Amino acid sequence: MLRWTAAHVLTFLFFLLFVAFLVYCLYIKYRHIKYDHIPGPPRDSFLLGHSPSFLKVMRNGGIVQDKLLEWSETYGPVYRINIFHFVLIGVTCPDTTKVNIYLFYHMLHKHQCKGHQKNPIPFINEVREACRLLRATGAQWIHDRKTAIQNGDDVPKDILTQIIKTAGQDEELMVDNFVTFFIAGQETTANQLAFCVMELGRHPEIMEKVKKEVDDVIGMKMDIRYEDLGQLTYLSQVLKETLRLYSTVPGTSRDILEDMVIDGIRIPGGFTCMLSSYVAGRMEKFFKDPLIFDPDRFHPDAPKPYYCYYPFALGPRSCLGQNFAQMEAKVVMAKLLQRFDFTLVPGQSFDILDTATLRPKGGVLCSIRHRKHSQ
Ligand code: HEM
Repeated sequence: MLRWTAAHVLTFLFFLLFVAFLVYCLYIKYRHIKYDHIPGPPRDSFLLGHSPSFLKVMRNGGIVQDKLLEWSETYGPVYRINIFHFVLIGVTCPDTTKVNIYLFYHMLHKHQCKGHQKNPIPFINEVREACRLLRATGAQWIHDRKTAIQNGDDVPKDILTQIIKTAGQDEELMVDNFVTFFIAGQETTANQLAFCVMELGRHPEIMEKVKKEVDDVIGMKMDIRYEDLGQLTYLSQVLKETLRLYSTVPGTSRDILEDMVIDGIRIPGGFTCMLSSYVAGRMEKFFKDPLIFDPDRFHPDAPKPYYCYYPFALGPRSCLGQNFAQMEAKVVMAKLLQRFDFTLVPGQSFDILDTATLRPKGGVLCSIRHRKHSQ
């Protein structure tokens, strides 16, 4: 009878691993054959696909979305990206954007935060640690607020109270919703405001025009009323144009299970469709001279952009806080413009930092002084 030594077991395991690797390579090959008729940049490697190109951009402090913009310009409204066996299809074709963005997809963050085992890649451990801290903080805040509610204390009527009231007894759901609102609701608007201040500082004539509108509509009133917001039309245009050029949540994706024909190209189901408001917002075919900051693109009488401008995404998984965010940004900007004169400190960089959401690289530094009331 054959006696298995440690060497035999090791050889057998190695053989199994080798076979598994071969099967995986065959699967990648199959995915390539299935999707390679779609135009796209040459792959950096069989196994890694295009991921080395993205890593290179990130290592050099560039913006991944600019790479996607470059590929959209080069390969047309539908282009293919491979990462291992995953196939991503970038789309800038408005009619397809219209259909795909309305599809539903699942957010994963609960699973991403949960793994307890150490990962060999330090960055992943750091992200997991940050997720755990966020969830633990959320759980603590939820606990404190629930205790206050049970004790009959006066609690604020804010999003946290609403999360607790609507989740029933499901603690996990409460923490999930806490994390979503915490991430989605803060730096997105903060970054939009920072870009807006940056562009106003760069364009004094636009600053003067928007300041005049604020003076005409709210004067020196302390409180801004809901009705006032509707009259701040030029400020709305400025904020919309800010999100065209600096879509703070630049892109989103939808998993497409069924076959589709996009721009005459047949695409078999089972791919991820990438949709980027940043990319579309910077394409000449949608916006003339796209790098010029021009709020008049969003003048009420100007033609409405057709599925090439969607900074809050669209459909059932679009931004839940869209209306709130637009009002919040308007109130903060109106207050700033009403009270202060601000000019950019010399040497301001107009570069973008890509941290999945976009923000001004190095921040936006201004000299500010109180406006004189008679102005
Ligand atoms: C300028 C500000 C903001 C921008 C550009 C923005 C953009 C987006 C985008 C693009 C999505 C993803 C939708 C998708 O993948 O289809 C999203 C999701 C979401 N946003 Fe916002 N957002 C902003 C502010 C806010 C604020 C202030 C809140 C909350 C008060 C908020 C709450 C949410 C929530 C809860 C989701 C997840 C919706 C879901 O999964 O169903 N966002 N946002």
